[in-house]
Amino acid sequence: MNLECSVTPFTPPTRTPWLQGEDSQRKRRELLTYFQQTYDLYESLFEALAVDDAWFNKAIPLRHPLIFYFGHTAAFFINKLLAGGWIDARLDARIEAMVAIGVDEMSWDDLDESHYPWPSVAELRQYRARVRERVSDFIQTMPLTLPIDWHSPAWVILMGIEHERIHLETSSVLIRQLPLQWVRSLPQWPVCPLARHQLAQVPANSLVDVAGGLVRLGKPQSDATYAWDNEYGQREVHLAPFQASRMLVSNAEFLAFVQAGGYLEPRWWSEEGWGWRQFSQAQQPTFWVGEPEGELRLRLMCDEVPMPWDWPVEVNQLEADAFCRWKAVQTGLSVQLPCEAEWSCLRQQVAVDQPNWPVAPGNINLEYWASSCPVDQFAQGDFFDLLGNVWQWSSSPIDGYDGFSIHSLYDDFSTPTFDGKHNLIKGGSWISTGNLALQHSRYAFRRHFFQHAGFRYVVSGHRETDSVNPYEMDPRVAQALDAHYGPDHLGVANFGQALVARVASLVPTAGKALDMGCSVGRTSLELARHCREVDGVDFSARFIDVALTLARQDRFRYALPSEGDLLEYCEARLSPLGIGAEQVARVHFSQGDACNLKPKYQGYDLILAANLIEQLRDPKRFLLDVAHRLNAGGILVLSSTYLWQEALTPKENWLGGIRENGEALASYPALQRLLAPAFEELAEPQELPLVIRQTARHYQHALAQVTVWRKRAE
Ligand SMILES: [Fe+2]
Repeated sequence: MNLECSVTPFTPPTRTPWLQGEDSQRKRRELLTYFQQTYDLYESLFEALAVDDAWFNKAIPLRHPLIFYFGHTAAFFINKLLAGGWIDARLDARIEAMVAIGVDEMSWDDLDESHYPWPSVAELRQYRARVRERVSDFIQTMPLTLPIDWHSPAWVILMGIEHERIHLETSSVLIRQLPLQWVRSLPQWPVCPLARHQLAQVPANSLVDVAGGLVRLGKPQSDATYAWDNEYGQREVHLAPFQASRMLVSNAEFLAFVQAGGYLEPRWWSEEGWGWRQFSQAQQPTFWVGEPEGELRLRLMCDEVPMPWDWPVEVNQLEADAFCRWKAVQTGLSVQLPCEAEWSCLRQQVAVDQPNWPVAPGNINLEYWASSCPVDQFAQGDFFDLLGNVWQWSSSPIDGYDGFSIHSLYDDFSTPTFDGKHNLIKGGSWISTGNLALQHSRYAFRRHFFQHAGFRYVVSGHRETDSVNPYEMDPRVAQALDAHYGPDHLGVANFGQALVARVASLVPTAGKALDMGCSVGRTSLELARHCREVDGVDFSARFIDVALTLARQDRFRYALPSEGDLLEYCEARLSPLGIGAEQVARVHFSQGDACNLKPKYQGYDLILAANLIEQLRDPKRFLLDVAHRLNAGGILVLSSTYLWQEALTPKENWLGGIRENGEALASYPALQRLLAPAFEELAEPQELPLVIRQTARHYQHALAQVTVWRKRAE
């Protein structure tokens, strides 16, 4: 432990407020103080900008210049209060439009070249002052009942404050990426004094055994502090015993990788990592200044200092991952980045969480310095820096926990990052305050992005899956999922369920069934309640893939068009529909062409084709063919809207809806004529309504005719 580094808080530490309380007037004052402290803190950060260039030039090509962020956090309050209907007038429509949308998170090869006529700094200072007055006034007069919940106007205020605290941190990174001569150091933002200058003085890292066990992720809805939507929900992960590094990886420890030529050898890098390495031509961590073989210095937010070898290295996730791959070969151990659950397991060693701590247990919440500090400064349980100092990259791409739902006032906060390309960072840094400094906070960045972030490693057999976008975005698939598993629309019962109920009323049980054109599988799964065995077959491999995944995982997420570009994020689940492992085990989904079905599909007691024949190129051929696949006495169930379309079925193949020898021929009598030689009709046709949602306010409402036929004994 380095004791030479004195610990002196430099700002009155603030805490994110409790949502509950007895006295609403007191809560109002708390919120007002929290708002004003945040606002002041944010403005004080921008005092580091010494020249106009610092305000108006982009620190990195993927972000706006800092002038944008200066206005952005203020306009956010007004934009969200308006969107929520809590206020009805803008303060400055031009500014509020200009600084509304951040350039965020694009790929490193996807540069934004837009030019904007930014307002002047003075103009934005005036604007910020007007927002301060407007929001302060709102806090003092808004309706307020306790506890504050998602729907309270106070939630919008907290959202604005916590959003500003996020930008406090991300802006401090942008300032760190500006040329040094454009910024000035600020006495109220002090750097941790440097104590060790020699590499040899840096304590060696070591591995600590961790028992593992059950880890429960997700913030309970009842938790009493503000959270972003992606933090709520649940997930349980069972971890085998693993080991974790006692300290964060220091600049000294990382130097060994640099000196071993780690940046020059593709074998240490993932494909994505090497792509970034080649693009960036990086040879060492981005904030290192100088040559690895010479005198290295470290760029801080507003200063450059001789390399503090005992501070944590700051790298992006791709560099951290490359280090782990290299280290794994050096040590013969499965060294890797921790997954979210492994970090959470370690985090249990710190008993307290903000806002409960009397003083921060680590270098976080701006309670100590405006910089990192040595990796052995803050002991927490068996470790150092489980929280604080710098963020810690994980191997986990962010996604939503079970029960995730979007906050409608900030519907694009989380889901754009649920693309498998954004990895979680955990633990917070020296400048993480408010929600960012809470145990359950969940922030994710593109793997090539820089924050005040480094890493610790684990030795673990756990393999985090490379998640792809967990939401099915194809509107055709999403529409089918909604029709099969979503809520009823316009008072019309679920079609698949109703259809199978109709079948079951005539044929209570059957042995082997074929559901031809099964789409995403609901009808097959419903049939499995009455049949011993069901083949669900569809022409679309896409649908079959979804049906298989759903059957395997019990759940499937999809994004349903709401209106225009807007989407609703939904989840199909089987168990709440009473479909369990028993039904699932009876169904076999496969891809197949109804007009050219493989011989193996035969010997059925029941064949069902729901709204299929009107989609086939040659419905007649299909109907004559399936007759041979049914056992004698077997049942054929057809439902159809008889919506014949030349794009799908050439007119010469339409079953009905045509004139034959000048006489009208409807589809039902045509079916009767076609099937009569091999079938008898078992019951009167039945009309079954069907609703398919296209948008939140636009539905396709159809009436299918259900006909049921029994194959004659030959
Ligand atoms: Fe923002």
